[in-house]
Amino acid sequence: MIQIHEFENPFPELIKTIFESKYEFYENLNVLHQILETPLISEEDKVYHKQIHGWQNDRNSIFIKDFHEYVDKHPEFNKTYHKFIKEYIQPLFPQETQLVIQKTPNIRFSFPDAAAIGCDPKDPESIIGLHCDSNFGHNENEMNFVVPITKMFSTNSIFYEPIIDSQIDPTNFENLKLKENQFLQAYFNKLKHCNKINQTGKTRISFDIRIIPYSKYMANLDFFTGTKFELGKYYIVL
Ligand SMILES: [Fe+2]
Repeated sequence: MIQIHEFENPFPELIKTIFESKYEFYENLNVLHQILETPLISEEDKVYHKQIHGWQNDRNSIFIKDFHEYVDKHPEFNKTYHKFIKEYIQPLFPQETQLVIQKTPNIRFSFPDAAAIGCDPKDPESIIGLHCDSNFGHNENEMNFVVPITKMFSTNSIFYEPIIDSQIDPTNFENLKLKENQFLQAYFNKLKHCNKINQTGKTRISFDIRIIPYSKYMANLDFFTGTKFELGKYYIVL
């Protein structure tokens, strides 16, 4: 249910170029929060990035917009993304000739004293955004992959239960540790996971990617038809 795979990570170099070209930021991405102290970022965006949001508006970050603009303008991103899927993800599904993949990865930023995901009023104390992806309408055949852009550790990372319905208190969940040359495969559709306030002093950036085996997608077409999860909207076939 949880596996860590080794790979050659091509993404940090690409993501760096976004911040070099727009903000002339040449430092390690794990100190990206330093640009929040410069006039390059509007007051409104500074305030946004220094607090926790409800999950309904946890995607309003200027940096998430920057990423999507970059993907739209630079075809090399999708080329690299698809190569990564073919080289490292496809072999994990030996029965499948094709995969249904998230069209564009979700990029996550966990800045110091904030968190990468939004909170829920029902969150236990010191826990942010406790959920499993099926709570948000994701299909149970979906598998999650987390690819680090910067090192993931301690409170800048994800906390998860190791088995479904474990009844483990979220404050005792496992902590995901990923070096830049490792990615995670996890069944977050049913395994609960969450964030905490990032107290590491380091920014974490990562991708979430959701994948469904093509045969499972086709066998469950009714589930997807007429939803945002239709092929061409949220997913593409590779
Ligand atoms: Fe999730």
